[in-house]
Amino acid sequence: MSSAADQQDTAKTAPCIKILTLFPDMVRTVLETSIPGRAERQGQVRYEVVDIREFSVDKHRTVDDTAYGGGAGMIMMAKPVVEAVESVRQNNDATVILTTPQGETFDEALTLELLEDLQLKGEIILICGHYKGIDERAIELVVNREVSIGDYVLSGGELPALVVADALVRRIEGVLHNEDSANNDSFTTVRGGGLDCQWYTKPPEFRGLTVPDVLLSGHHGKIAQWRDEQAKERTEVRRPDLRQTEETDDKSRKR
Ligand code: ADE
Repeated sequence: MSSAADQQDTAKTAPCIKILTLFPDMVRTVLETSIPGRAERQGQVRYEVVDIREFSVDKHRTVDDTAYGGGAGMIMMAKPVVEAVESVRQNNDATVILTTPQGETFDEALTLELLEDLQLKGEIILICGHYKGIDERAIELVVNREVSIGDYVLSGGELPALVVADALVRRIEGVLHNEDSANNDSFTTVRGGGLDCQWYTKPPEFRGLTVPDVLLSGHHGKIAQWRDEQAKERTEVRRPDLRQTEETDDKSRKR
């Protein structure tokens, strides 16, 4: 158990996830909850939430306008976005991510890449896109990665940014109390990039449904083998696209 002073020291040096948003309260609420909240309280990560409206162009706190050339939907102006980034960025090499349906798809490999980045540079900046999009010049000036969490359109970039933040935080060493629970999650090396197996807890029988005998056997070797087989079968049935090939095998061994 570290002392309060130790924890304060870590808190100063812990990597910082900075989220720029039009809805700071929504973002803060999620970051204070569950594992992301505990990680911050334990000094393993820091968060900075910035209200983009603080950098608006007028007293009405305007941050958007109509699109040049016409068309439905409002566009977030370049100035507030760029100035918000410049106000929080401490490391000029920090990765600045815009969450947008037009970005590269977020997955476990990208999580690990961004985690390395966060730890190396000390910070990562996430801009939550809104309205129809943001002025392309802001992207040119300050964004170096665009990330999508899937092929559907959400009302804003807050949920995607929080998805990215959560996925990163739970992979920081020591955040999950039992490291195993991260290592054998779906998509991880232990699961060969595939899905996780099914899990059971007490009682041994519920509404006539029982727990597979092997899990009650106390035989760790057989349990591990069963879980492995179940995970492979699930991957085969539900996500054959994740099936291991020699190439993916090689990649996961390197991690
Ligand atoms: N903003 C709106 N929809 C999104 C998505 N699917 N991914 C990332 N950002 C978004």
